[in-house]
Amino acid sequence: MKQNQPIEFTEALVPYTHAELAAKVAEKLTDSRFQHCLRVEQTSRKLAALNGVDQELAGITGLLHDYAKQRSDETFIKLIKTRGLDPALLNYGNGVWHGVVGAELIKDELRIYNEDILNAVRLHTVGAPYMPKLAQIVFMADFIEPKRDFPGVDEARLVTRKSLADGVRYQIQHTLTYLISQGAPVYPQTLATYNAWVGGVGTVPTK
Ligand SMILES: [Fe+2]
Ligand SMILES: [Fe+2]
Repeated sequence: MKQNQPIEFTEALVPYTHAELAAKVAEKLTDSRFQHCLRVEQTSRKLAALNGVDQELAGITGLLHDYAKQRSDETFIKLIKTRGLDPALLNYGNGVWHGVVGAELIKDELRIYNEDILNAVRLHTVGAPYMPKLAQIVFMADFIEPKRDFPGVDEARLVTRKSLADGVRYQIQHTLTYLISQGAPVYPQTLATYNAWVGGVGTVPTK
């Protein structure tokens, strides 16, 4: 893509231009949350270039990842109950739901059915023992986008630039440590992600 040229998506991925999709995401979010999505889009594109993943696909997924973030609890609860999703989800909250359940709203409202995109959106809140590269990219872009500011974010950026898989390990360990320090419950899939990526249970990339 040449510099200063507007990004346009191919119709094969989503039935929208970039401007159309961005407007649809903006409509459902506060401006600050939407700006975060644009930064995650850009960071996803960069990580995709570094890791041999389609930049357009990564950008779209980054832009969409928090599409459902600001919906009501009732919306998510209804979807969990009517779509045959894991009933254990009902014990958790928006932090888990906006990814795992939010993908349903992307299908319903935006008519986007690309499973690579939907799966990466689902996994951005909880991870998984096996995460395709696209899902790893969006998971990390969300964690290290330029406005993120928490102790360790610079190290997370460095680690991720060297190795996407090491970045995933860094984030999941950081998140588990935080949840436990808060005495917060841990969604079982988040724990499974930790066990696989950090605890060495199962098969995940070593580098
Ligand atoms: Fe999110
Ligand atoms: Fe996010």
